[in-house]
Amino acid sequence: MPKPLTLPKIVRRRSKIHDFGVFAAEPINKNKRIIDYGGELVRNRDSEPREERYLAQGCIWVFRVNRRWSRDAAVGGNIARFINHSCRPNCWIEVAGTTIWIRAARSIRKGEELTYDYATDGEQTIVCRCHPQCRNRF
Ligand SMILES: C[S@@+](CC[C@H](N)C(=O)[O-])C[C@H]1O[C@@H](n2cnc3c(N)ncnc32)[C@H](O)[C@@H]1O
Ligand SMILES: [Zn+2]
Repeated sequence: MPKPLTLPKIVRRRSKIHDFGVFAAEPINKNKRIIDYGGELVRNRDSEPREERYLAQGCIWVFRVNRRWSRDAAVGGNIARFINHSCRPNCWIEVAGTTIWIRAARSIRKGEELTYDYATDGEQTIVCRCHPQCRNRF
């Protein structure tokens, strides 16, 4: 019998980076799968107008899965949609089919904010606040 997948406990709360973020509620080992990025699976051609609409409100909710598919976390998303971007992230992304796993890039302490690199390739209009000196755009 395959072992059931137990995911670490995480919580949403206010973040120093931006509005709400997601935090480890217990220590997380390196490479542990933390959560999948939930959201409606939509063709890229259908997600683009949505993406533009969300961006006009200052928010990125659409995650590009591959050349054909995206996940729109504004529709049927889970807590993963509140994970903020960092240029020095503690999580990495694994795409398995159309599932997007957020995994620990190193050991993460209880109470640390979870972050990953959004790796956006659009207009990069958002000024990054991942740490006080960061001047990048994404
Ligand atoms: C998927 S949401 C993350 C959750 C968001 N903090 C919230 O409370 O709704 C993505 C949005 O959060 C903001 N954000 C995420 N990471 C950021 C960062 N490093 N610096 C500035 N804003 C960030 C941007 O507005 C971005 O469009
Ligand atoms: Zn940054």
